[in-house]
Amino acid sequence: EDPRINGIKTKIRVVPDFPKKGIMFQDITTVLLDPKAFKDTIDLFVERYRDKNISVVAGIEARGFLFGPPIALAIGAKFVPLRKPKKLPGETIFEEYELEYGNDRLEMHVGAVEAADRALVVDDLIATGGTLCAAINLLERVGAEVVECACVIELPELKGRQRLKGKPLCMLVEYRCSF
Ligand code: PRP
Ligand code: MG
Repeated sequence: EDPRINGIKTKIRVVPDFPKKGIMFQDITTVLLDPKAFKDTIDLFVERYRDKNISVVAGIEARGFLFGPPIALAIGAKFVPLRKPKKLPGETIFEEYELEYGNDRLEMHVGAVEAADRALVVDDLIATGGTLCAAINLLERVGAEVVECACVIELPELKGRQRLKGKPLCMLVEYRCSF
C-alpha cells in the first residue's frame, strides 16, 4: 500500500451518531484542512489516471465537487458536475436513486458529455452504491464510456461495488464498522 494512504486515513474524522443515531459519519473536511493529506489524495488519483486517456471527470454534488475538479485540471480533462435536482439551468437528463426514505436524483447537462468521451466518476465515499450507479447510468445514456469510479472512502460492508454495473472502483481507504 502506498505510504501516503495511512496519512490520509488519519485525517478522516469519524463522527458517531451523525446525522442520526447508529451512523458513523466519515468526515473528509478534516482531510481538506491538511494541505499534505489533501494533496496526497489528489496526487494518488492523478498518478493513476494521467495516462488513461480520460476526457471527462464527472463529480457528484456535493462532496464529489471537492475532489473532482483538481483531478480534472491535473490530468487535462474537462469537469462535469452531476447535480442534485433543479440546480442546473440548461437542458438536463436525470437518474433517480433510492435513499433510506424516498428518492433523490442526479441531473446532468445535455451536451456536456459526448459519446466519444471516456469518463472517470469521482465522489468522496461509496456506501450503498446507489449514487454512483445513477452517475454511471447518466454517462452511459449519452454514450460515454465509464472507465472507472474513484472514491476516497469505501464502506465495503454495504457492498456498493456490486451496483457499479461491472465498472472498476478505485478507493483509498476502507472503513468497516464491525471487526
Ligand atoms: C453521500 C456521499 C456520497 C453518497 C454515498 O452524499 O457523499 O455521495 O452519500 O451513498 P450511497 O453509496 O449509499 O449512494 P450525500 O447525498 O449524503 O450528500 P452530499 O455529498 O451532498 O453531502
Ligand atoms: Mg455525496
